[in-house]
Amino acid sequence: MRARSLPVDRIAGTVRAPGDKSCSHRAVMMAAVADGESTVTGLLEGEDVLNTAKAVKALGAQVARTGLGAWTIVGVGERGFSAPAGDIDFGNSGTGARLMMGLVGGHDVTARFTGDASLSSRPMERVLKPLREMGVSAETAAGGRLPAVIRGGKLKAIRYAPPEASAQVKSAIILAGLRAEGITVVEEKEATRDHTERMLRAFGVEVDVEERVEGGPIVSIRGGQLLRAIKGASVAGDPSSAAFAAAMTLIAGEGEASVTSMLDNRTRTGFFDAAKEMGASLRVEGDGQATGEETVQVVVLPSRLKGITLDPALVPSMIDELPIFAVLASFAEGKTRVTGAAELRVKESDRIKAICAMLAVNGVEVEELPDGFIVTGLGARGVPGGGLVEARHDHRIAMSALVMGSAAKHSVSVDDIAMIATSYPEFFDHMATLGASVQKDGQ
Ligand code: S3P
Repeated sequence: MRARSLPVDRIAGTVRAPGDKSCSHRAVMMAAVADGESTVTGLLEGEDVLNTAKAVKALGAQVARTGLGAWTIVGVGERGFSAPAGDIDFGNSGTGARLMMGLVGGHDVTARFTGDASLSSRPMERVLKPLREMGVSAETAAGGRLPAVIRGGKLKAIRYAPPEASAQVKSAIILAGLRAEGITVVEEKEATRDHTERMLRAFGVEVDVEERVEGGPIVSIRGGQLLRAIKGASVAGDPSSAAFAAAMTLIAGEGEASVTSMLDNRTRTGFFDAAKEMGASLRVEGDGQATGEETVQVVVLPSRLKGITLDPALVPSMIDELPIFAVLASFAEGKTRVTGAAELRVKESDRIKAICAMLAVNGVEVEELPDGFIVTGLGARGVPGGGLVEARHDHRIAMSALVMGSAAKHSVSVDDIAMIATSYPEFFDHMATLGASVQKDGQ
């Protein structure tokens, strides 16, 4: 289904950030292997997480929904996963598929992993290479893509330095390390999101993290530790989703908006730091806690923005926010340069190409770089709009385009909004609450 976002003057109101996608996947996976019954609230009920829930059910965990974002999960504990009856479909989710490869790898089962067109075009070898070294057997389609047959078993610990800065690779190895013999060590190239480490600790697992001056942290985990179920676990709000409401307010003519319960973790909040550097009026106030994490309320005002050269060191902490950051840069004065973001090429779409096409079709000058892009900002209200953006099976491109339309001179359309439900099912409700004007095809 298509949608069109019309220009509006005022963005105002308060929304609660939807459950963090990364933390939701991890909470479900960890509860699924823990010993006993866990209860979790604040879970994101997007399609990606629902697919992870189906996966752990197929492997023997019991999952029951007790309310909105509230689930009870009985883990398999010492007994481990049992063989699934059929294929496990991870839909659009790289996190679901890759982390589960690690988790399944430590169990004596065989499972065939499948995914949608976008996921089936994404590289899996980055995870399977270290997992094979640990003793997992994996057969993939050509080019290391899904479908993949993963056969777990007795694993041995490894020491591994992933060539890419990837929390998914790190997490898959750590999760396999839970049942490996010895101490598994991951040396990170750069610090990436650390939710696996934090949540494992909440489930009673010892994880050692050594910070380094040069390079990212070194994470170690001793095999043979059994997770203890938690009653009352909770998931913080997603900064990657909150960034859409924040950006829409920053580029608006007038108003003020707040996003509450947002995860406050320096491995995730680079977008907000970068926006501040551009001149964004953003205030952050502590508003609570979730399992292993703190949360904040972010109060945002429309702001006059100036282009910046983004520090590549900030990229891992805002990797998923770069599409909406490019929209922000379009409404800033002067050029914004993003480099060090080659990983964008292997996200739900080739996001460098998708971002450049989204901007260009709406009258914004943008230069594609191998590892980023340069946007020539047109200032507040300076973006012509009027374009039809191709979503390319990518939820964040679709949402970014609709935010762009709220402040452009002419409406912005997107050819497919279906994928938005993978990460942010409340997106259209939140847009409406804040005063955006979005029309879905035929409505
Ligand atoms: C995620 C890690 C990131 C991110 C993805 C979620 C995670 O991917 O882009 O949306 O939950 O670990 P990479 O690890 O491939 O960078």
